[in-house]
Formats: sequence, structure tokens, C-alpha cells
Amino acid sequence: MTLTPTRPTLSTAAPVDQSEGLIPAGADPRLVAWVDSIAGLTSPDSVVWCDGSAAEYDRLTHEMVESGTLIRLNPEHRPYSFLARSDGSDVARVEARTFICSEHEDDAGPTNNWREPAEMRVTLGELFAGSMRGRTMYVIPFSMGPLGSPFSKLGVQVTDSPYVVASMSIMTRMGTDALRLITADTEWVPAVHSVGAPLLDGAKDVPWPCNPTKYISHFPETREIWSFGSAYGGNALLAKKSFALRIASVMARDEGWLAEHMLILKVTNPRGRVFHVVAAFPSACGKTNLAMLRPSIPGWTVETIGDDIAWLKPGQDGRLRAINPEAGFFGVAPGTGPSTNATAVETLWGNTIFTNVALRDDGDVWWEGLSDRAPDHLVDWEGRDWTPDSGSPAAHPNSRFTVAAAQCPTIADEWDDPNGVVIDAIIFGGRRASNVPLVVEARNWEHGVFVGATISSERTAAAEGTVGELRRDPFAMMPFCGYNMADHWSHWLSIGRRLGTVGAAPRIFQVNWFRKDDDGSFLWPGFAENARVLEWILERVDGRAHGVDTPLGWKPADDGLDLDGIEVTARQRERLFEVDPEAWLAELESTEAFFAGFGDRLPAELGTQLADIRRRLKLSIEN
Ligand code: OXD
Ligand code: MN
Repeated sequence: MTLTPTRPTLSTAAPVDQSEGLIPAGADPRLVAWVDSIAGLTSPDSVVWCDGSAAEYDRLTHEMVESGTLIRLNPEHRPYSFLARSDGSDVARVEARTFICSEHEDDAGPTNNWREPAEMRVTLGELFAGSMRGRTMYVIPFSMGPLGSPFSKLGVQVTDSPYVVASMSIMTRMGTDALRLITADTEWVPAVHSVGAPLLDGAKDVPWPCNPTKYISHFPETREIWSFGSAYGGNALLAKKSFALRIASVMARDEGWLAEHMLILKVTNPRGRVFHVVAAFPSACGKTNLAMLRPSIPGWTVETIGDDIAWLKPGQDGRLRAINPEAGFFGVAPGTGPSTNATAVETLWGNTIFTNVALRDDGDVWWEGLSDRAPDHLVDWEGRDWTPDSGSPAAHPNSRFTVAAAQCPTIADEWDDPNGVVIDAIIFGGRRASNVPLVVEARNWEHGVFVGATISSERTAAAEGTVGELRRDPFAMMPFCGYNMADHWSHWLSIGRRLGTVGAAPRIFQVNWFRKDDDGSFLWPGFAENARVLEWILERVDGRAHGVDTPLGWKPADDGLDLDGIEVTARQRERLFEVDPEAWLAELESTEAFFAGFGDRLPAELGTQLADIRRRLKLSIEN
């Protein structure tokens, strides 16, 4: 690991004395020196090395209850659980303040915010100088992936937020065991986080310190993360989007594997055959719901392996294998209820940190969608009295739960297998009101890469741009790819060539649960019924389902999709699979323009795929 650039030169403060007894015995001297350098820059009052124990979690949560950062929920309803209310200005990931600081702008590509690394180091050096004054700096050694697994990677986050420490202890394998794996020659990713709210001259703290200036910065060449000003989610839990996607995608490119924004499922069919599936969807498309699916069709079982991130690597046997690098779920609460995701509701029985949901009068939590009827009185996410007449949501739309994956009743036994699971199918989905059929199978890997590269959703609000226009989210990685997106597509093509040589590549599918009828109603019921689409996909993989050729790939035969027991009329079915050639030719124009933005980094194969689909569409008009 390159350590040299991690210490900006602007520090004027004296290094904090990490007195002997507090540094864990055996800690790698390079790591100790790095921690010392960050403490020298940020000037915390004290430095605490986290051991990841239950006692430490109890102590931290107790202290946060005392300080007002956490509210302890009524243990009769929600044992060992807490509610945090964030500052009203710090409620979500800030993509506009997220930077990829590669040496060359082209290596970040047109879809990332790029900053020149030396310039960013100066900016960060100024912001971080003294930024932890009056606070404790916590040192969190962690492993992404099972400890010691050949798939796993190590990191160390320092932070001045105890809320971040408690959350990281749910979301990662952190503490002494991870620290032991860091030796003189192990690679580890340094991640520096400060809320940017020094407590000067004994000033009183606020429950959710943060700073209006925010920088979520990534240095792909030196594999470093520096995050300033926010304590919320992906901005601050740096193991998640910053490490496991942005930095890991760069490591994966260099080392021949993939770090993807994908859930992982284990599915068993009525004949007892087990499959594993990964699926990429843009944020807010119900990934956690699909990861915890309760199939509506008899004989099928779905178990959960991951809900957000997958690391995939060709194994010794030439098959693509995957792990979930995380240890917990950081899921969106609103919309999670007994009919949409009963498994999540059960998972959240206790041991959960909730952020920005509403508080019930009985000391439990509530959010929109948890029950059909809202309680008569709540305290909303901003701490104000709330009634159903208040006219605003009681829980923030991006309010969250943080809970251990192991607590999920449908977690698969092999969810933390250090060797990962063999992947049989890859699914790409977006939120498309028009054009995209319920399900099609890509013709081959290259066509599958085209499908991944063209994931998109229609804009639904004027605030997002022109309503109906496509918001592109290739591979659902738009905000998460740490390098040029076109190079990411080339990398997928090269992985396909490697897998193809042994003929064992997973099959690739496109799905769309969100297609709408002319009256604006959804054509497909979604949720548990999505099992019917999984059934067709896995019957295809098993060689048992017929595919009908369309310009967009293979679709189910007319009787190929099991619609028994649901109200989908023949007309709705037809609309779900309709391919309107004119509308598609127009969409391909827009795709071509989007691809053109990548200049000569665009892999030729994607141009060929586009031309091939265009040719097929034109042929379908002529016939
Ligand atoms: C998430 C996201 O929170 O994708 O997982 O935004
Ligand atoms: Mn996500």
C-alpha cells in the first residue's frame, strides 16, 4: 500500500500521544504510524482502537443515549435497538460532493466528478486540520468479506463519529480479528472520516454533528478514501459504497474480478436443484425486497445472501463465484411492510439502529408502509409531534435500518462461505414505465454487457429533469464506479472471454417490474410474484424453458410464464412483452448519443450490439 500521500502537509497540531497501553499489542507499526499521522492532522482529544466486542458496542450506544445522539427504543417492543435523528441537512448520499481523484481525468470518465488529486489533497488537508478537536478518534480495522477469505479485502477507517463506529460494527467484520490480519505485507485501504465539527473550547455538542461542506473523495491509484462533513450512510460508512464499490471496482479491474452493485440470492427449485443469482438494480428499485423474496409459487425457496453488493471472481473451476462483502443491511425503511417485505420486518425485531424513522408513543418505531394505518400520534423524524393530518411524512423517505445479515430469517447457510457461491444467472433491471419487457434473456455475454450498460429509468419528477427522459444508470453503478465507465464495460467483456473459454459463464437476463399501462397503472404485480420471473429464468438455465426470439433477446413462450392464480390478463401479458420497433429505434438513438460521450474508450462490441439490435428491429418492421 502507498502511504506517502496520505499525510497532507498542512498539519500544525502536535501529534496526539497514543499512550502505550491503548494501542493493541501486535498492531502493525505501519498502521500505528498512519493512525498517528491522521491524529496529528485532525487533533482529536483521544484515540480509541476498536475491538469489535459486544462490550464496546454497549459502551458506545450507552454513551450516545446519554449524549442525545441515540434514543433507546422500548425493549418490550424492540430490544437492544436505537433511533438516531440526523441533522435535517444530512439525510442521504451526496453524489454531487462525491469525487474520483485519479491522476488523469479520463480515468474517472465522464460519469464521475473528477478532481486533480494534488489539488484535492490541499483542500482536504485544510479541512481535516484540527477537524476532530474536542472529540475522540476511533480506529476501526475491518474486513470486507469473511475473515481470511481469498475474496476478502481489509480496510481501516478512522472516524470521529461513534454512530459510525456502531453502524460499522453491524455492517462489517470489524475489530481485533481484522486487526490481526493486518501485517507488514498485507494490503489495506485507509479511510479517513470526520464529521467536520470540532468542539472548540469545551463547546456543547449537538446530537448529530456535521458540516455544510462535504467531500466524499476517492483516490483510486493510492486506494484511499477521505470523507468530510457527513455522518449519513454511504457518505460515512466508508466500507460500503466508497470501499466495496468505488475503490474495490478499481482493485477488481486491476486484479481480474468484479465489484458490483448487486444482490445475491440462493434459489432452490421444486426438484431440489440449487441456483445462485446476482441482480443489479439502480438505488430505490426494491433490491432489499427481492433479496428477501417470499415466492408466491409452490415448491420454490428463495434464501438471502446479500442485498446490495457482490464481489465476483472466476474460481479455480472457471465458474464465476460471488461473496457478499458486507455483514449487515443498511436498508430503506419506508415501503418495508408485511405485504412488501415480511422477511425484513421480521429481521428488524431487535438489535437494530434506525435512523430518521418516526417514534411511536409506546417507544417503538414506525414508518410509512409498516402498517396500512398510521398511529394517531407519532414524533416525526425531525422530533416534532405528528398526526396523520400533518401533511408530511413521519419518517424521512430515505430513513434507514442497520441490522446484521445473520439476523435475517431467510439468510442462506452459505452466505458467509469464504469460497463464495457459484453464480448461474445475472439479472439487470431498471425502473422502466415503457419499452423494456418484463423479462428477456440476452443472446450471449456481449449482448448481456450491452443490457447492463443500458440500464435506465424514466425521470418521474420535473426536479430530476425532463419527465419521461431516460436517467441512465449503467450496471446500476453510475454513482459507484471508481473508474471510467466505458473501461468497466471493457472489463466485463474481458471477464466474459475468460469465463467463455470453459463454457461456464452465467446466463444474463433483463427484467422490468415497473412497466405501465396507458392509464398509468403497473402491468405487473411485482413483489412475491417476481418469483414467477425467477422461475422462468432458472428453468431457462436448467434447459427446460423455451425462449422466443425477439429483437431484444429471448422472451418466454406464450404459456412459458406461470400466471396461475394472479390477475394478469392476456392483454396485459401482451403489453408486458410488447416490443414497439419505432419506440425502440428512438431509444437506440439516445443510447448511441450516450455511448458517444465515452469517445474512443467505448468498447467496439457495444457499438456492434447496438447495430445488431437496430438491424433486427428494422427487419421486424419490414416483416
Ligand atoms: C443504497 C443505495 O443505499 O444504493 O444502497 O443508494
Ligand atoms: Mn445500493
